[in-house]
Amino acid sequence: MEKTIEQELKKVKTEADVAAFHQRFLGKSGEITALLQGLRNVDPAKRAEMGAKYNELKKSTEEKLFKLQSEIREKAATEKLMQDPLVDITIPDTKSRRGGLHPISIVIREVEDVFANMGFIIEDGNEIATEFENFTSVNVPASHPARDMQDTFWLSDGRVLRTHTSAWQNYMLKKYGPEFKAICPGRVFRNESTDASHDNTFFQVEGMMVGKDVSVANLIYFMKEVLTAIFKKDIKVRLRPGYFPFVEPGFELDLNCLFCGGSGCPTCKHSGWIELIPCGLVHPKVLEHGEIDTTKYSGFAFGLGLTRLAMMKYGIRDIRYFNSGDVRVLEQFTPVV
Ligand code: DAH
Repeated sequence: MEKTIEQELKKVKTEADVAAFHQRFLGKSGEITALLQGLRNVDPAKRAEMGAKYNELKKSTEEKLFKLQSEIREKAATEKLMQDPLVDITIPDTKSRRGGLHPISIVIREVEDVFANMGFIIEDGNEIATEFENFTSVNVPASHPARDMQDTFWLSDGRVLRTHTSAWQNYMLKKYGPEFKAICPGRVFRNESTDASHDNTFFQVEGMMVGKDVSVANLIYFMKEVLTAIFKKDIKVRLRPGYFPFVEPGFELDLNCLFCGGSGCPTCKHSGWIELIPCGLVHPKVLEHGEIDTTKYSGFAFGLGLTRLAMMKYGIRDIRYFNSGDVRVLEQFTPVV
């Protein structure tokens, strides 16, 4: 019987063969089943010994058949994949190297968490903006250089790839005004040549808080809270006057340089400070475009450079790594499992 089983197993090549083999030896009226059933007629003295032998035969046959069946199924699945034009089985094994999060994604998630905990709505703006959204609604005059072909990617239909997340301010004002707190993180685009600190595609997060008596004090409080949560240490900030058409007064919020601790290094251009968050009180014209009554409400806005923030946080000195798609660089920030 063992010999026959071995010979028959060798002939099993398809799923149908598996079924036929099973029926012949292991099924209800199979040959091995019959052996086991025949045990009741065997001399009781020999029954235990023979029972053990037949059970062993049954078990090993089942195991061999199961192994053959798995091989047949795997082969069939591979053949099917090879014929599928959408599946490229020559791509290296990805099972042992799962991806991690891009450093920008990590920073976006952290920033969103911090703001959500402080009651901010998280908005997801469009990357394509109208000229009104990107410029007019945020009080950027027609003569402003940002409206120039050199600085902005214009689409043939007159829209633009948003040059800043401020393009979403008008939408937020109209949707949530006159009292709200919201942020809008996302990708922005500038038509400029690249170097270690400039890229044509980078990330910002726009933030706005509008309500009664919103002031610069509120702005400083929120910015400090956020930076402390992100860098997980107490952060020193300072405000300098800065000009942006959409805020009045406008500021540059600087952070004490985390590379040198404030003593001066090439990254902070030896000033001890890094320019990180342009901000200010929302210009009345911007509020008016957003249909907010400027006699009753005021607000602050900021445009935090997320890419810059990620560079600070991880000590990355060349912005071009982010969009390089170079796994050797990117996998250093999240464990690759
Ligand atoms: N949109 C500005 C930029 O991309 C950044 C900015 C500055 C945003 C001041 C603001 C702000 O909301 O108040 O350079």
